Amino acid sequence: MTASRNDSVSALIAEMQLYYARRADVYDASMGYDNLDVVRSLQPVIDALCDELRGRTVLEVACGPGFWTQRVTEPARFVVASDYNESTLSRARAKPIAADRVSFVRADAYELSSITQTFTGAFAVDWLAHVPASRLHDFLDGLHRKLEPGARIAFCDQTPRSSSITGVHDAEGNHLQERDLPDGSRYRVIKHFFSDAELRDILARYADDITIRRFGEQRRVVVAYTLGSSQGVAATAPAR
Ligand SMILES: C[S@@+](CC[C@H](N)C(=O)[O-])C[C@H]1O[C@@H](n2cnc3c(N)ncnc32)[C@H](O)[C@@H]1O
Repeated sequence: MTASRNDSVSALIAEMQLYYARRADVYDASMGYDNLDVVRSLQPVIDALCDELRGRTVLEVACGPGFWTQRVTEPARFVVASDYNESTLSRARAKPIAADRVSFVRADAYELSSITQTFTGAFAVDWLAHVPASRLHDFLDGLHRKLEPGARIAFCDQTPRSSSITGVHDAEGNHLQERDLPDGSRYRVIKHFFSDAELRDILARYADDITIRRFGEQRRVVVAYTLGSSQGVAATAPAR
């Protein structure tokens, strides 16, 4: 990658960090997560994630204000929920989640070395879609270094409405959207809408049991896989 392309990807990453830092107070409401009907309609997606991670010690990346953390913590053994932004973490910490089953930590998804435990599961919701193409394997390799062989990993992202597709791409092909906040500020975000073939292509080097489920009504896709026996780390310091 050229230096200027690298700079523009780094600038987009920083812009997304700032956008979500400033969106924290309105995030749940903007997603409908405070609306019982929306939450009820998401139940099949929640169930799919919970089934993937049941009984596991789980690392969550980019947990945001913790809507999904709260759901996955119920069937998981323990969840370490991480996010770059303190503003989102503080909203998540305020949620009624069993304190002995979750811990919230500030961590950059691209630099997870500050997290010292290893895990038997991992997940992220509405995160993989924001990872620049040139950083996808760095991110996945870094995540996998926190996981034991045989760990189960699940990513959940949105599928597009026609209005979601802008037709705007950056130099490395990332699909870009513009987002507004209530204060009128504007941000660019990367938002991929991966096809099944693209997801399989990205993940094929890590696993041979990739499952993809699409939830039409909820406009969601859940991709899950098991980390191969030659991947991840040996369990040296298991999470609680
Ligand atoms: C679309 S939100 C998803 C939040 C949450 N997973 C949910 O679905 O409710 C994206 C999240 O990524 C976080 N984020 C942005 N850049 C990050 C980074 N480099 N490392 C970790 N988290 C990051 C933001 O703070 C935000 O909480």
